[in-house]
Amino acid sequence: MHYGPGMSPRRAIAILPATQAAIAEAAEALTRGGLVAFPTETVYGLGGDSTSDQAVAAIFEAKGRPSFNPLIAHVAAIAQAESLAEMDETAHRLAARFWPGPLTLVLRRRSDCPVSLLASAGLDSVAVRMPDHKVALALIEAAGRPLAAPSANRSGRISPTRAEHVAECLGGRVQIILDGGPCRVGVESTILDLTEAPPTLLRPGGISAEELEEFLGLSLRRSAQSPEAPRSPGQLESHYAPALPVRLNAQAAQENEALLGFGPADFATINLSPTGDLVEAASHLFAMLRALDRPEFKAIAVMPIPEKGLGRAINDRLRRAAAPRGRP
Ligand code: TXA
Ligand code: MG
Repeated sequence: MHYGPGMSPRRAIAILPATQAAIAEAAEALTRGGLVAFPTETVYGLGGDSTSDQAVAAIFEAKGRPSFNPLIAHVAAIAQAESLAEMDETAHRLAARFWPGPLTLVLRRRSDCPVSLLASAGLDSVAVRMPDHKVALALIEAAGRPLAAPSANRSGRISPTRAEHVAECLGGRVQIILDGGPCRVGVESTILDLTEAPPTLLRPGGISAEELEEFLGLSLRRSAQSPEAPRSPGQLESHYAPALPVRLNAQAAQENEALLGFGPADFATINLSPTGDLVEAASHLFAMLRALDRPEFKAIAVMPIPEKGLGRAINDRLRRAAAPRGRP
């Protein structure tokens, strides 16, 4: 074991050569809600238990993202993908041909999908991929659950293709970095949205659009905006918003309103975090908005959330949920 450069001595971080023992230790950390950076064939991922709201919130905090970009659930087998998402014939053909490999499929979530709603940012879809790297596959298998993993860089920085890059960028924000050497592909996976026909290319990546088009025998739709770009208000419709109107910065509920609390507030209908913990609040956000989105209420009022750390991402999402919208 050695310690990577560029991090505070207070929270030094272990870069471990990806031996079987290190993979077992990392899997153990993941099942306890910890974060592990691991190699894939594209770039290093910042992995956490995709089925845990808390672990997913910790990923967003470590990335320092001002908004909740949905994350990819990494699987080790096609059967595991089937347990998360509806896979139609096209999905099966693509998976059989390109998995493991740098292709991410955006699919409809199964109703019993165990992936945290925070990981798919409240969407009804989930992004799934099987990485072509023996360390990644062994880690997912040992953890016994799909791993949520964005690229292991801070928001706005370049994706890391070596363990040392991760150490430089994320410092003590991750428990373990598994070192599997440099990444073979070096650019992120291609993202293909299969939730509507024809399939839409959301992000060019390790597998070319031409190769996919030739294999499928059709032209892909190109998305107007890269999913990496900040989501504009025009994309609101594609995001989950509660059916009920949302009122922000509420100190108390008005008549027939549900109150989503933050901080000490016995009077709240439910509370994102009675102790005012932003990581806990983020982990509950989407599930609690859904829970309050019921016909017995006329609106959802939300108490103020501080505009710092994960609070910025929570507020970004809440402002979208509260934005005026056209209803059919
Ligand atoms: O190669 C890769 O894909 C790497 C390695 C670690 O697997 N991962 C990666 O993750 O690039 P990330 O979080 O940096 O990028 C994931 C992209 C984001 O742009 C996000 O918007 C998109 O996937 N995405 C995830 N879930 C989605 C969904 N349900 N619908 C649409 N886009 C989605
Ligand atoms: Mg990224």
